[in-house]
Amino acid sequence: MGDESSAELRRQLNDILAEARGRVTTSRDLAALEQERIRFLGRNGLLAPLFDAIPSLPMAERREIGTVANSTKQAIAQLLEAQVRLVRTDVLGERLTTEREDMTLPPRRVRVGRLHPISQTTREVSRVFATMGFETVEGPEIEWDYYNFEALNIPPGHPAREKWDTLWISNPLGDDPSRPLLGRTHTSPMQVRVMEKRKPPIRVVIPGRCYRYEATDAIRESIFFQYEGLAIDEKLTMADLKGVLYSFARQIFGSDRKIRFRVDYFPFTEPSAEIAFDCFACEGRDPGCHVCGGDGWIEAAGCGMVHPDVLRRVGYDPARYQGFAFGGGIERLAMLRTGAPDIRLFYQNDLRYLEQF
Ligand code: PHE
Repeated sequence: MGDESSAELRRQLNDILAEARGRVTTSRDLAALEQERIRFLGRNGLLAPLFDAIPSLPMAERREIGTVANSTKQAIAQLLEAQVRLVRTDVLGERLTTEREDMTLPPRRVRVGRLHPISQTTREVSRVFATMGFETVEGPEIEWDYYNFEALNIPPGHPAREKWDTLWISNPLGDDPSRPLLGRTHTSPMQVRVMEKRKPPIRVVIPGRCYRYEATDAIRESIFFQYEGLAIDEKLTMADLKGVLYSFARQIFGSDRKIRFRVDYFPFTEPSAEIAFDCFACEGRDPGCHVCGGDGWIEAAGCGMVHPDVLRRVGYDPARYQGFAFGGGIERLAMLRTGAPDIRLFYQNDLRYLEQF
């Protein structure tokens, strides 16, 4: 009887394996395969009672049937595993066709951002003046007439107002005719604001946006950036001013660039000067140059010794304190640094242009 039942077990194991092969290899989804796993290998699956029968076989046959039962179980497990892998691949293949993604395409290049050339130049200006002890501070773009003009010796009706075409601002809460508001036409109002708040010695540089009611061309924009410098101390002279600006020009442009100081006029500095760099585009050789207009020089900054009246107005004693101030356009520096032929290129938001810097 032992022989019979072990032959019977062997036959059943064979049948189960054959059945498993048929069912598993035709299963097309993962849920169905899990059902098959339970059907054959589960605790109440088809193999379980056969394993249970083994201990009651005659000793001599147990080992052999046990081995067959184990390898049947293993074979079914492998069938399941292989089919699961196949179905997974199929699912992916299905997605690849319906979702129309080509997984073999190389990934898109990550576009790394960078600072706008004007921001880069602004930081460079701050960095260079920092080497000479100047601290960077910022101030309001919307300014009172008082700081933009009056405190700088430019009272209402003063002809110097013609020099700064102004965008006046209407206050939505109501305009006070005695305190007009404007988009600051230069960063010079910050000279006064800083001196009102601090005591000498002062060394600050103020970069910031300015506004002028002005037509644009290759070197002029109605919204633009300036940097302002201010140094107040005992015994500062025009020589200190020149030394600082020479060092600035050389640190920014190297020793190649030529620099020109000429007498100029500003109501809030006395004496005043204009500093110019030689034209990077034509180097003074093209009378029709669209950058310098054939002049050969590009005005880079105005400067001078702070006017005693300005000092007095903020409560400084001009007999004790003197100082110098300078102010220039950041776009012009950026043009010189990048070789940009037209200031408007900076503000067209054309990435093909901006990405170069
Ligand atoms: N604020 C002046 C301008 O915009 C430049 C300037 C600054 C001149 C400081 C003298 C001193 O033209």
